[in-house]
Amino acid sequence: MGITFDEKNRLFFIETRSTTMCLALTDEEGILNNVYYGSRVDRGDISYLLRRGEYPFVPSENDRDRGCFFDYARMEFPTSGIGDYRTPSVILIDEKGHDSSLFTYKSHRIYEGKENLYAELPGGDRVRIPGTFAEDKVSTLEIKLSDGVLGVSAYLSYSVFEGIDAIVKSVRLVNYSDRCVIIDKLMSSTLDLERGVFDNKSPEVVTLSGSWARERRMDVRLLKRGSVEVYSSRGESSHQFQPFMAVAEEGAGESRGRVYAQTVIWSGNFICGAGADQFDNIRAYVGINPQHFRWDLKSGESFQAPEAVLVYTEEGFDGMSHVFHNLFKEHLIRSPYLHKERPVLINNWEATYFDFDTDKLLSIAREAKKSGIEMLVMDDGWFGKRNDDNTSLGDWTVNEEKLPGGLKRLSSELTQIGMKLGIWFEPEMVSPDSDLYKAHPNWAISIEGRTPCKLRNQYVLDITRREVRDHVFDAMVNILKSADISYVKWDMNRQLSDLGSVELDPSSMGRLSYLYTLAVYDLQERLLKEFPDLLLENCSGGGARFDAGMLFYSPQIWCSDDTDAYERLSIQSGTEMLYPLSVMGAHVSASPNHITGRTMPFDVRCAVAMSGTFGYELDITKLPDEEKNAIPEQVEIYHKYSEIVREGDYYRIARESETHEYDAWMSVEPGKEKALLTYIQVKAAPNVKGRLIRLKGLDPDRKYNLRLIGADNEDSLFCSREKKSLWEKTAPAEALSGRALMNAGIVMPAVWGEYAQFMIEIG
Ligand code: DGJ
Repeated sequence: MGITFDEKNRLFFIETRSTTMCLALTDEEGILNNVYYGSRVDRGDISYLLRRGEYPFVPSENDRDRGCFFDYARMEFPTSGIGDYRTPSVILIDEKGHDSSLFTYKSHRIYEGKENLYAELPGGDRVRIPGTFAEDKVSTLEIKLSDGVLGVSAYLSYSVFEGIDAIVKSVRLVNYSDRCVIIDKLMSSTLDLERGVFDNKSPEVVTLSGSWARERRMDVRLLKRGSVEVYSSRGESSHQFQPFMAVAEEGAGESRGRVYAQTVIWSGNFICGAGADQFDNIRAYVGINPQHFRWDLKSGESFQAPEAVLVYTEEGFDGMSHVFHNLFKEHLIRSPYLHKERPVLINNWEATYFDFDTDKLLSIAREAKKSGIEMLVMDDGWFGKRNDDNTSLGDWTVNEEKLPGGLKRLSSELTQIGMKLGIWFEPEMVSPDSDLYKAHPNWAISIEGRTPCKLRNQYVLDITRREVRDHVFDAMVNILKSADISYVKWDMNRQLSDLGSVELDPSSMGRLSYLYTLAVYDLQERLLKEFPDLLLENCSGGGARFDAGMLFYSPQIWCSDDTDAYERLSIQSGTEMLYPLSVMGAHVSASPNHITGRTMPFDVRCAVAMSGTFGYELDITKLPDEEKNAIPEQVEIYHKYSEIVREGDYYRIARESETHEYDAWMSVEPGKEKALLTYIQVKAAPNVKGRLIRLKGLDPDRKYNLRLIGADNEDSLFCSREKKSLWEKTAPAEALSGRALMNAGIVMPAVWGEYAQFMIEIG
């Protein structure tokens, strides 16, 4: 692993454990090309990949057709207007309105370590942009490119971490001229490939898309000439698309196949795209969406684009996921809770919605405590006069009609019961019907003379303004200091629109959506500094801000408002493509499910929620006895296996979206001594054999016993006798090697009826 510069051949080698990226400089001019990214290669002279001699594409030798080179080469920082007609990484507009630029090599530095990224909010607050970090065992290459006409330099930075097959990349522009330059577009990463890396077959583009309550489902399509883009212009990373795109060899599967993946560590507007051109080049890019973005880079100023993460693997989507998971766990998530067992919580949202008071909450807490649940989370509706979602956002004072004695009383009664208290906030918002809005109507993001668009009957506060941000922060601090509160669920229930801020000059208005995301980061950073022990869970109408940026602040994110365990199979399997199970908010809710009306067995709902941060989202006081009585065993199982789920390596065995019958996944302890298999039969099919599945990730030479979870307990409510006897009929009779379990596989019984779970301890 490491970074080197071969001076003679003008090649940069950026190496991870199993990959190499090679950047090459063209002769005199120093145009930066990405000539290779893939499996590890020797640091030999691969500058022939620049195709210098290939007529007529040589800039130095054939100036007549200089443009052909730009339109053909594997450009590392492609610009607009100079002959490359593909999607540019950067568009800069000078004071005369021209939109051409060309950046060439000036210098570079290679150093041990990695510098943090910063940006500034109006008023001068310097904010750290979320990004990967490490104390040591990280090396960085920074290449300075400049456009001599514009007087602007681009600092391209590449970091590699020991043991992780990812390259983390970022770009900073500095305006050294005495004029203002407009940044119309700046991608965090552009990756040019040739179709030859996929054996000259069209690759597939993989994205994760959805909607509210249907987040992050995997989409796969062939990349023909032309382009595919996914994006958000909503001011959040969004329900609709995930900031992620993989370009993979056709038919790449979970365990095999070449995959190039990129994401961007950013929680606001983004774009991810891939296009194939006339020469079968493939250009893939990620960065801030140019829509709603326009940055007036004044003389002497700099602009920092967020970090991109690039992953290459030959080991299919599991291989890709492992790299993202490990990078995020080891170098992005800072929370002290990352490696800790999270409390089993009960959230009152689906239990009561807005209709609750202290007595109701305490009755839920008392019952929950009996079952071993450890924390009560009071969701929306505890403040102002909020009895529905039409009022009071911004009025962060306790509604004493609902909660007499306030949070102090609630928390001390909970302490007596032996439960912790968690609380919901939606700090970025204001209801038109609120004292805050009446006092400060111009604190809402809006455009003078235009009625701002309401969503969920609320507006977005202009937290890019310091006084607004300080007000929000102080309000949260007051509440959090008023009682013993261990956890905050930070929600955001609408998208941005009407992008106007009274504090920004017209020329800087295009900065607003970037600054908004920065302001959210600033608030969360300040909150965690003030309350370092706080367990923060991000949320955005379910999973609209499930992104790497938020993981810098919160070790868990609410995955989706859809708690239907069947729906969760696809939502969670999409989420797990990038994010470790330890960050995925997953709860058991009531049946029939409130959103889908689907009825599912309690143990199946529990098995699905157990692959995330486990909790309940139901009125435990109203549960039928057989469900209520099942909870203590479920909580015990969660405690027993939460470490494997949290720390283990995740393997996808089958996706229900493909099998249409079952779904299965595994977590394998890092030492491979133990593993946990979850198998969900979704549909019953007549006259079928039990399904043969092959396990993954085990030590081939180690012997493993397989135990059906709950089977040792005669009276288990998690594992019925019928299920136990079915399992006994198909399970291996003795310990088998990992090699046998991974190659020959095991047989999962076919169960009569729909929806059944088998959780198997392997070890
Ligand atoms: C959206 C969240 O995803 C829900 O869990 C809940 O907190 C509601 N907002 C409350 O308004």
